[in-house]
Amino acid sequence: MNIMNRAEHYKQYFTKDYLMGPNSFCLLDELIRRNPYEARYDRTLDLGCGMALTSVFLAKETPAKSVYAFDLWVSATDNLKRIRDLSLEDRIVPIHGDALDMPFAQDWFDAIVSVDSYHYFGCKEGIFAERILPFVRRGGSVMIAVPGLREEPQGELRTLFETWAEGDDSLCFKTTGWWKDLLKKECGNQCNISVLEAECYDEAWEDWFNTGHEYGIRDMEFLSRGLDKLLNFVMIYVQKK
Ligand SMILES: C[S@@+](CC[C@H](N)C(=O)[O-])C[C@H]1O[C@@H](n2cnc3c(N)ncnc32)[C@H](O)[C@@H]1O
Repeated sequence: MNIMNRAEHYKQYFTKDYLMGPNSFCLLDELIRRNPYEARYDRTLDLGCGMALTSVFLAKETPAKSVYAFDLWVSATDNLKRIRDLSLEDRIVPIHGDALDMPFAQDWFDAIVSVDSYHYFGCKEGIFAERILPFVRRGGSVMIAVPGLREEPQGELRTLFETWAEGDDSLCFKTTGWWKDLLKKECGNQCNISVLEAECYDEAWEDWFNTGHEYGIRDMEFLSRGLDKLLNFVMIYVQKK
């Protein structure tokens, strides 16, 4: 199997009924592939899993024995239906909850993975070190893919960006440097940290536009007016020493 094309196996989900934004399958595929640290997946948390499709990818494409599909906006019962349809209920555990108040034992997970979700709750000092990292065992890793910025926007581009992101949401978009500084400050002495820019930018947006989702059509319009030069996807890797 060509490891570069794993997301392609999930093409039936590249529709407006399933995708919740830029193609999370390509983001997740790249996130896993480019992890600079050795990772174990036995017990993996899919943090902010949405419709649990990223959890399905983790169950099928990694050695995970159990994947915990954890989300706030989508109910566990709803996710269980999709998980059952794929006969994956022995591998994926759907859970409804808030990332800022997780019900797990400390040091439980080998990996925590989060795609297009962490920016909604994790852009503040203290969250990572106090609410996320404690649940990973020593030697385990956290892998996060979030939309972000190539640089801080100025002038007209700033106005365009803020109009697109509608006020407070613009505060969730940060540069790779911003994420690196935050994480180094929070856990630099107990973790290895690496922050990269994703390579699947065009593909992830294109697949989202092609769904015809009304938000996708709006995003396409704003990106074509200049936002495509400003945005990126940030890939964050933290390994607990
Ligand atoms: C754009 S969707 C992405 C879902 C999925 N990871 C994917 O890529 O298809 C963002 C998800 O983040 C979740 N989320 C936002 N804030 C959260 C929080 N505080 N705790 C848990 N999940 C949260 C939402 O419930 C939503 O499903």
